[in-house]
Amino acid sequence: MDALTALHNRVSTGLLTDPAPNEQQRRNIFRAALRAADHGCLRPWRFLLIEGEARERLGEIFLRAAEGAGDGMDEAQRARTLAMPLRAPLIVVAVTRLQEHPKVPHLEQRMSTAAAVQAMLTAAYAEGVGAYWRTGALAYNPIVAKELGLAENERIDGFLYCGTPVKPPRPAPQLAVEEYFFNWDAS
Ligand SMILES: Cc1cc2nc3c(=O)[nH]c(=O)nc-3n(C[C@H](O)[C@H](O)[C@H](O)COP(=O)(O)O)c2cc1C
Repeated sequence: MDALTALHNRVSTGLLTDPAPNEQQRRNIFRAALRAADHGCLRPWRFLLIEGEARERLGEIFLRAAEGAGDGMDEAQRARTLAMPLRAPLIVVAVTRLQEHPKVPHLEQRMSTAAAVQAMLTAAYAEGVGAYWRTGALAYNPIVAKELGLAENERIDGFLYCGTPVKPPRPAPQLAVEEYFFNWDAS
């Protein structure tokens, strides 16, 4: 698939199943992340790959974190939380390593990680791999960060769920360029 076709038509895929992306596909997807725009070339990102049984450990972390946040949960909610990471065979956790830099604020470092995740979404689409960027309260929960081994200066900016689409991708909405792009009137 050529680059513009992927950029214009990429959609997220919520319903994912086995198999996980193969070695060639994941290499292409991960290499796309490493070309994210990056002020100061700080390389402020790192990525944790969670698959197989490790997803069950992640579910347990999610549950401890949700319970620790004081969320009163019934049995069905507990089961849903435990099963969240099982929604795809591979989860890429996108982490920003915040650095102190005179010209690059933390926000820009996190924007670089976001650019990396978007690049992975597009590369996944081009590879026929389904992917879905998720966050939610658990991405920002300190128990999740600690149990995943993040340092004090690290933040989770997304869980990228990857796998085989259950259905063909839906057509991308084709927004009108004219509704979002305007000549600025300098007068
Ligand atoms: C930073 C970020 C976090 C997101 N978190 C969630 C999430 O937790 N749950 C969710 O359903 N969608 C989330 N989304 C939106 C989906 O990833 C997706 O972009 C959206 O459903 C639109 O689908 P599309 O990408 O096919 O246009 C998030 C998007 C971004 C950019």
